Amino acid sequence: MLARGAGLVLHGTTLPAMKRRVLVASNRGPVSYQFGPDGTLTGRRGGGGLVAGVTSGLAAVAPEAEVSWICAALSDADRAAAHLRPAAEEPGAVPVRMLDIPPDIFDRAYNNVANSILWFVQHMLFDTPNQPRFGREFRQDWAAYLDYNEAFAAAMADEAAAGSGSCAGVRALIQDYHLSLAPRLLRDKLGGGDADLGIAHFSHTPWAPPDYYRMLPAEVGEAVLDGMLGADHVGFHAGRWAGAFLDCCAAILGAQVSGARDGAGLVGRVVHRGHVSEVAVHPLGVDAGALRARAQEDDVRAQAEVLAAVARGRKLIVRVDRTELSKNIVRGLDAYRELLATRPEWHGRVVHLAFAYPSRSAVPEYRAYTQRVRQTAAEITAEFATPDWNPLVLEVKDDYPRSLAACTMADVLLVNPVRDGMNLVAQEGPVLSERGCALVLSREAGAAATLDGDALLVNPYDVSETAAALHQALALPQAERRRRSDALAATAAASPPARWLGDQLAALDR
Ligand code: G6P
Repeated sequence: MLARGAGLVLHGTTLPAMKRRVLVASNRGPVSYQFGPDGTLTGRRGGGGLVAGVTSGLAAVAPEAEVSWICAALSDADRAAAHLRPAAEEPGAVPVRMLDIPPDIFDRAYNNVANSILWFVQHMLFDTPNQPRFGREFRQDWAAYLDYNEAFAAAMADEAAAGSGSCAGVRALIQDYHLSLAPRLLRDKLGGGDADLGIAHFSHTPWAPPDYYRMLPAEVGEAVLDGMLGADHVGFHAGRWAGAFLDCCAAILGAQVSGARDGAGLVGRVVHRGHVSEVAVHPLGVDAGALRARAQEDDVRAQAEVLAAVARGRKLIVRVDRTELSKNIVRGLDAYRELLATRPEWHGRVVHLAFAYPSRSAVPEYRAYTQRVRQTAAEITAEFATPDWNPLVLEVKDDYPRSLAACTMADVLLVNPVRDGMNLVAQEGPVLSERGCALVLSREAGAAATLDGDALLVNPYDVSETAAALHQALALPQAERRRRSDALAATAAASPPARWLGDQLAALDR
């Protein structure tokens, strides 16, 4: 996801009953608040691919449904806003209920369990000689994670019963690894017998195979699977992740699992504790029309002029990432260094724009990694720059219009995560490309399942292979780059957020 945009969305409450009711639950919500100099609160649209995908998908169902979005207060300003009723609500904005979870509970659940353990397991990123280590402290963190999930389940149950007092017709869409226990907790609260309650859980991450997943303490690994299987529908971006989830359900819970491949990927069923959960693949692509329209706006065009002055007619290799450990930015820079070292014909003819935006600075591994990104970039500049050629521009300050502008101009887009649930940049780049862009893509991104035919796929650990792919991408004839990016854009546009969300609701209606 290219990152964030601004716009006011305000906190609100429930709408009149009768329509289909859709509850979304996610840790990060569609709005975040800041205190102004005079202490007043202003809201901005929240960032990230999950928020963008759900927001865009909801826009398509909102006229037919009564929607509310439950999320956590992430800052002091959010906490203040969580207790206020706004004077006005922006037309069309989704009503948001922000939960003021006690800061210590939130910190343990979000930083210590969700981001430092569950996210690491699913991305298979532990430095296993040293991490993880599950002792008494972790058990306290885990208790906080349970409380955090309980707070969400209670709020969802409350919203579900609002208005008519019945949860009939309620569709709960629960997002990601922060809320793996919430489906079961919600089902227990609302009574499993209500035929017209539908609960879905969607993982935006990969899923680890049983041998790796087993690293979790037994009771934790089982609780996560059992929690998610409280849902009627369990979704993933790619068949690989859905398959690994089914394998974990069979190996760890001993659940009864069946699976079949069809055109849309893997679809399976898990029977556990007398309840059937459907497991399905819903790839999230992009709303191509909206994205291209956004790229025509003045702020993006102005950034394109700035970047054109940086490139001065040279070819552009672009990457846009949050600085997450999974994004493999250091090996990407190493591959660029190897390209310049082994292919001197590109000296003076190419510029690498590397946008690496801040993420999760509360996690120590992230701070250390950000430092390595800066260090590697400085080394490349020191080694190759000449008085009239700067081979590398590293930007660490998030700038959405600049990210869009870079994608419109890229000759090559580098997306090389070691593991990624989907990856939206790999799809947004080709959609935005104005003159044709070759995509160098990690085979370990969920997006590789659909983009493999027209991208140049690489093993993300193989720096030399990535360097060779960058060379091949730069050297492609213009017409071939164009053909490839048109095909990639068509694939990305075929799974817009409206379809991603609509298909999940349709599955719950069945
Ligand atoms: C990553 C994960 C997503 C997750 C997001 C949360 O991008 O792949 O699945 O939802 O992080 O980010 P946050 O900044 O809210 O911790």
